[in-house]
Amino acid sequence: MRTSKMKISLALVSCVLLVCVVNAEDAVVEEVTDSSSEKAASAIEKVQYVSPEPDGDVYLAEHFDNPEAIGTKWVKSQAKKEGTDESLAKYDGLWAIEPASKEPIPGDLGLVMKSKAKHAAISALLEKPFHFTDKPLIVQYDVTLQNGQECGGAYLKLLQYDKEMRLSQFTDKTPYTIMFGPDKCGNDHKLHFIFQHKNPKNESFEEKHAKKPSTKLDEYFSDKKPHLYRLQVYPDNTFDVSVDYKIINKGSLLEDMVPPVNPPSEIDDPEDRMPSDWDEREKIPDPAAVKPEDWDEDAPEQVIDENAVKPSGWLEDEEIMIPDPTAVMPDDWDEEMDGTWEAPLIENPACESAPGCGKWTPPMMPNPEFKGKWRAPLIDNPNYRGKWRPKKIPNPEYYFDPNPFHMSSIGAVGIEVWSMSDNILFDNVIVTDEKDVADQWAAATFDIKRELVDSDGVSHNFYVLLI
Ligand SMILES: *[C@@H]1O[C@H](CO)[C@@H](O)[C@H](O)[C@H]1NC(C)=O
Repeated sequence: MRTSKMKISLALVSCVLLVCVVNAEDAVVEEVTDSSSEKAASAIEKVQYVSPEPDGDVYLAEHFDNPEAIGTKWVKSQAKKEGTDESLAKYDGLWAIEPASKEPIPGDLGLVMKSKAKHAAISALLEKPFHFTDKPLIVQYDVTLQNGQECGGAYLKLLQYDKEMRLSQFTDKTPYTIMFGPDKCGNDHKLHFIFQHKNPKNESFEEKHAKKPSTKLDEYFSDKKPHLYRLQVYPDNTFDVSVDYKIINKGSLLEDMVPPVNPPSEIDDPEDRMPSDWDEREKIPDPAAVKPEDWDEDAPEQVIDENAVKPSGWLEDEEIMIPDPTAVMPDDWDEEMDGTWEAPLIENPACESAPGCGKWTPPMMPNPEFKGKWRAPLIDNPNYRGKWRPKKIPNPEYYFDPNPFHMSSIGAVGIEVWSMSDNILFDNVIVTDEKDVADQWAAATFDIKRELVDSDGVSHNFYVLLI
């Protein structure tokens, strides 16, 4: 049976003591009582989740419902990561195919990255390579960050096609064509769409990043719910990125990537130097101004306040601190060994009610004669020529690639991540060139999962298909 081909309406049913309440608003059955349950049973067919079949042409469609998929279709990386500590050097993060930890649907399994702070990589060949010609590329999958996400990625890499792809050696150095999906560290929430653009002049590749979406992404990382990520790249060089069917970023490969796909046709001449007589100063000190004769540059900033008077009651003869008259020399004090014993100092109680004790000195005050260093006032510079800029020359590295959509062919899909939060569930990966196929695939997988999660508060054990 291919559920995908049927027009179905799904309803969630919770059964308690043979009383079933259908939650969907457009439900056919409102209440099923004990006496009518047999009749109802013939109208409704209880189905556990059914692993879907893609309804059309795909390059890869993976529901991860087969626990044997790891080791056959999906290959774990056995590689060592270059240039890191020996302790981190291995791709030894664990992968498992297992049900969701919360609200699992019977029969629905996912690919789970099990390890914290380890490099983990796994990949699978496409059924046939994707060549960028006249059809769009659609990549879609869902992710559940089952333990949230502190720092780490949950993105896919679409690996560059090669006649001999060595998936067991998949690392961060493996050439990829597109990197797509969520990534977060601290408060930096990202939804990557990066592609490798081949410089037509020297054939080297450079990463081009889609500009940051303006939508807030925080919730996708924190709510621990399944989210559906979709990237569509079209032969007219436009793209869009959506989460849960909502477009959150779109644009043109020619205009909205950083750095731009095509370099500027002119650049500043690196050889050009500012002429020595070029005056960039907009204002200058007035050369005609002279220091006024009464300007004393040496007058101090603060002077003694001659008008200050000693507050009455000031006790000049009392010390601020005095030896504690109640202190006694400890019995074990040995004057020969420890030196002469002195009582510890305490605040002089006689000063408590007085405005002050000890020698009185008048306070300082700002000097009314203080002027500081004399400076000539500023006037407009008659020689001002504006800010100097080097002259423009044709960019020697210029090229114009009118069709960046023509990326390197894709041969495999991989996940190569490092994460501080474990138990990231990946599911329902599809690579296709038909939007309907992606829609249908999501309806048969993600939609069901999401509906179950969104109806929380009630424990649902079954999906009921109303025909
Ligand atoms: C190719 O050209 C780009 C841009 O001019 C430059 O950054 C890059 O280093 C060059 N690569 C090679 C391999 O020459």
